[in-house]
Amino acid sequence: MAASPRALFRLVVASARSRVLLLPPPARPLLGARACSTGAQFHYLAVQKTGTQQNVGLIQLNRPQALNALCEGLMEELRRALEAMENDPQVGAIVITGSQKAFAAGADIKEMQNKGFQECYSSGFLSGWDKVSTVRKPVIAAVNGYALGGGCELAMMCDIIYAGEKAQFGQPEILLGTIPGAGGTQRLTRAVGKSLAMEMVLTGDRISAAEAKEAGLVSKVFPVDKLLNAAIACAEKIASNSKLVAAMAKESVNAAFETTLAEGTRTEKRLFYATFATDDRREGMTAFVEKRKAKFTDS
Ligand code: CAA
Repeated sequence: MAASPRALFRLVVASARSRVLLLPPPARPLLGARACSTGAQFHYLAVQKTGTQQNVGLIQLNRPQALNALCEGLMEELRRALEAMENDPQVGAIVITGSQKAFAAGADIKEMQNKGFQECYSSGFLSGWDKVSTVRKPVIAAVNGYALGGGCELAMMCDIIYAGEKAQFGQPEILLGTIPGAGGTQRLTRAVGKSLAMEMVLTGDRISAAEAKEAGLVSKVFPVDKLLNAAIACAEKIASNSKLVAAMAKESVNAAFETTLAEGTRTEKRLFYATFATDDRREGMTAFVEKRKAKFTDS
């Protein structure tokens, strides 16, 4: 018999406290629509803090009847949830996940069906999605099932992609008479190289989790039911470091995708020097010398 949303909520909270987070059954929200730390309500997302220190922000896309198709309402909520986590000093890393069947099956085709050029252009259609790639805190995508079109693009906006064994990645927009519009042609090409990116974008063919791992699109692959806990464990590890310095490290790695090598190494140097203005750099090195664990204060 399926557990009620309230029972699921108690299970998840209790298990998060005891370090082990129970997975929801397929196509079910972790908590149902719930409040995050700001008290904001979500219809398309389940949002909570998790991890032993409650320092991981967990966002589950929760639109199972449409395989988490990324309608405008969902993306607006995602923007709000990310902003709330960005502003929450307790949160050190964020995990975005979907259901076991679908991370997200793309932008909402039914919403796009009757749009014209002028509407897309004038409203800057999809430009609000950029929020995902501009969050300063590290973001991990935990991808089970379909990550297609905008779903694949959403995963690629994150900093790390972990995949479940049955995940499938693809940019099938060509089959709809359009092309990727949320960074797919750019991020996929940088991640997997020109030949495979061209093949995926021009044929609409999907690749498996194993192929995505081999191509460098994802960093690790896990059994379906182990994926979320693995992503949360990685987020906890990141969150145990200085949040300030983690943001600098993220900014520096991202410079590799946005600038020339010379500009990127200059950016890195400036950020490296900047760490010497932080208490956490001093504490980290002092702790090493004193043979103890560092106590970072994010300052
Ligand atoms: N938009 C809107 N609704 C979607 C959707 C999408 N991207 N993907 C799935 N759905 C809906 C279906 O319409 C269906 O709803 P109804 O029950 O009301 O008919 C429901 O989700 C379940 O889908 P299926 O019955 O198709 O499920 P399936 O298991 O047979 O197939 C699938 C799964 C292969 C993922 C298939 O749903 C599919 O091909 N979806 C579209 C994938 C796609 O083309 N994505 C790219 C979108 S364009 C884009 O993302 C542009 C961009 O760059 C931002």
